[in-house]
Amino acid sequence: MARYLVTGGCGFIGSHLIERLLAAGHEVRVLDDLSTGKRGNLPDGVPVMVGDVADAEAVRAAMSGEDGSGVDGCFHLAAVASVDRSREAWLETHHANLSGTIAVFDAARRANPAGPVPVIYASSAAVYGDNPQMPLTEDAATRPLSAYGADKLGCELHARVADGVHGVPTAGFRFFNVYGPRQDPKSPYSGVISIFAGRIARGEPITVNGDGEQVRDFIFVKDLVRYLTAAMGHPRPGAPVYNVCTGRPTSVNRLAEVLAELSGRPLDRRHGPARPGDIRVSVGDPSRLVATFGMSCDTPLEDGLRQTLAWL
Ligand code: NAD
Ligand code: UD1
Repeated sequence: MARYLVTGGCGFIGSHLIERLLAAGHEVRVLDDLSTGKRGNLPDGVPVMVGDVADAEAVRAAMSGEDGSGVDGCFHLAAVASVDRSREAWLETHHANLSGTIAVFDAARRANPAGPVPVIYASSAAVYGDNPQMPLTEDAATRPLSAYGADKLGCELHARVADGVHGVPTAGFRFFNVYGPRQDPKSPYSGVISIFAGRIARGEPITVNGDGEQVRDFIFVKDLVRYLTAAMGHPRPGAPVYNVCTGRPTSVNRLAEVLAELSGRPLDRRHGPARPGDIRVSVGDPSRLVATFGMSCDTPLEDGLRQTLAWL
């Protein structure tokens, strides 16, 4: 059994990852500033250090642990996960999203007397930006449209430095649009599925940004966390990155219709202005993921949406 640090562990994806790690018998501790995450997302007894991932001292302390026990690896998920928020608070989100990642890589190189520990980190499909290739393979050109996407690309570049210069093994996962239980339906910075599901379930109108024909590749959170744990078991040299996606496109309009159908509620859809920096088409090619880890993101969208609605 191993001991891991999960940054951002009180958040949506982090809480599902921790559920899986604990079920496998691992020991977990968390560094989180609780800006969007909640302690209540985690079972009692998981130690949470409240601190900023961009604070190098806090990250070092979280990796070494109060008793100096160190960790066998780090899952790095802490970030301001919203594209919209990165437009409003450019510098602030940059600190969390890029400086925070460098702080994690830096701490990982000194985390153990035995040598650097592996870091499995969250990148994003936002690195592809306005590249219209469909589906997107990992070697497609990266053309971020947002500060968020630019910072995630920066994380991948620094992962190469971590690996090549400092001997820190890493794996980066370009999550496409993740959804599922515990994605906050009340936050305006949350994902479209949780916002729409929450509003439709409460009988409130939804706002579609622009014409609603923008397309996303939605992945169910429980499918995603299997790759993170698998990657920790097999760190690979060369700072690899992997798309985490289904390869299946769904438009925002279609998503709204399916959610209304599944929840048995009428759809009150209004259109607002298109979001600045919004990506038009984002669909990934999962071939590398499937070939490397031998499993695919196989939860059908409707099943994942049912589980999400049931949680609300
Ligand atoms: P989330 O907001 O639920 O989780 C992020 C967590 O990080 C929260 O618990 C938050 O409190 C914490 N955090 C934020 N800033 C911090 C800071 N400066 N210091 C310490 N903790 C901080 O979002 P999520 O959807 O669970 O995202 C997890 C990771 O996955 C992020 O890196 C995000 O960029 C990435 N990602 C998410 C999606 C998605 O569709 N949800 C897609 C691509 C990538
Ligand atoms: C999402 C993630 C981001 C991730 C990226 C990877 C969130 C909050 N953001 O960004 O972390 O890196 O996927 O691809 O999960 N929309 C509406 N009405 C709304 C809300 C959204 O029409 O009320 C539209 C948006 O304009 C966009 C689409 O829905 O076209 C998806 O938006 P959103 O869920 O915010 O995700 P991304 O911006 O794709």
